[in-house]
Amino acid sequence: MSELDLLVKGGEAVIGQDVVKADIGIKDGIVTVVGAGLEASTRETVDASGLLVLPGGVDSHVHIDQPSGSAAEMCDTFDTASASAAAGGTTSVICFAWQSPGESLAAVAADYAERARASRVDYAFHLTITDPTEEVVEKELPALVAAGNRSIKIFMTYKGVGLEDREILRVLDAARRNKALVCVHAENNALIDYMTEKLLEAGLSAPKYFPWSKPSVAEREAVQRIIAFGEALDVPLEIFHVSGAGPAAEIERAQARGLKVWAETCPHYLTIVADDLDKPGFEGAKLIFGPPARTSADQEALWDYIRRGVISIISSDHSPSRYDDPKGKKVAGDTAPFSVIPNGVPGLAARMPVLFSEGVSKGRISISKFVDLVSTAPAKLFGLYPRKGTLAVGSDADFVLWDPRMKVTLTNAMMHHGSDYTPWEGVEVTGYPVATYLRGREIFRAGEILVEGGGEHLARPEYPMIEPREEFPTPFNPVERTVVS
Ligand code: URP
Ligand code: ZN
Ligand code: ZN
Repeated sequence: MSELDLLVKGGEAVIGQDVVKADIGIKDGIVTVVGAGLEASTRETVDASGLLVLPGGVDSHVHIDQPSGSAAEMCDTFDTASASAAAGGTTSVICFAWQSPGESLAAVAADYAERARASRVDYAFHLTITDPTEEVVEKELPALVAAGNRSIKIFMTYKGVGLEDREILRVLDAARRNKALVCVHAENNALIDYMTEKLLEAGLSAPKYFPWSKPSVAEREAVQRIIAFGEALDVPLEIFHVSGAGPAAEIERAQARGLKVWAETCPHYLTIVADDLDKPGFEGAKLIFGPPARTSADQEALWDYIRRGVISIISSDHSPSRYDDPKGKKVAGDTAPFSVIPNGVPGLAARMPVLFSEGVSKGRISISKFVDLVSTAPAKLFGLYPRKGTLAVGSDADFVLWDPRMKVTLTNAMMHHGSDYTPWEGVEVTGYPVATYLRGREIFRAGEILVEGGGEHLARPEYPMIEPREEFPTPFNPVERTVVS
């Protein structure tokens, strides 16, 4: 064996279902050998005794440096967001090339690719379509998917962003023809609009009423509807940020019918409830995200759906605004109604520590389940596996040295993001990243970010997991306009 660049010795590696004493040898940024008690010529050795060695996190739902459509500004660039990723053990992110209405998706994607060059971690793009014109869907989309942007994001709510049903069908049709996965923000826009209007008319405008404006039934209906559309056109779907029991039950029913429907939830749904928005003054605005926080019964249900694999991915839905800032949560002032407060919370750095602490340290899930949720499953679903999401020979040497016993009280400064708050300020977690490596290069250790840039774009070619089932409700394939015998 030629000399290694790096040998990670003495740790317990999480490889598939196993947590095993294994050393990991790395050459040219790739895992080249895995085995117990490895003796090899190496330029550098890192001592991982007492630590877990985990595949680097893959966060498949991250908003970075996006237009907001208002005077509000998202407060992370690729520079700060990727620092935050590294600080939380995440080495790959999938973020959004976001088309605003009237814009060319191709131009947006090109601009976004340029800005992403500042990233310290590897990255791929979902294509967010808010204006599915003929030009965008039939001309731009095929080239962008072929270039490796193999997922599309659509919204069923938000004014100027959400698509009408007929537009959704057009995007699903194009996704099937171009072999791209469709990811969906599923909430019923009309119902939310109605509830918002009635709440404001009743004078109930404080942040704590935001969850009332977006009841679980609005999410459940939209999840059920998008699944029906996917079933009719035979299009696989990923349902983003499932907030509780109602929508999760719809997803389980779809999976039981054999449909290719996957789902994620996020740490904020597992740790924050609607009542937490009932804070003095405007403070509840910090916890405004959509779909909103639900109840502790929903949280228990989510853990159950996670354990049973109905929900297979935990992303951050990192969507950061500053709190005390006229371009952040206070864009319309500090007494503004909930309906004009920017949605979203920062969560990139906190994702893995909060899930490990709530999940593994509290005995709800195993270590290997944790790794699957935050790394392996998203890598598989989004076409990055086995380059990412595992520590197999031939994989990129992205890994985290993780102390499963370390107790840490989270503060905003530890998040390394652009926001002035974290929803988990003051929360004590058990289990924390000691160091993060991207392709064999140390990018974070002991609270410090060690590098500038260095992230690479991850082009995603076609892959079998998201192929359609070739089953339709009738003998007619509407996408190909053929009759299936
Ligand atoms: O509140 C949220 N989640 N904001 C980010 C955009 C989205 O809906 O994913
Ligand atoms: Zn969303
Ligand atoms: Zn999102």
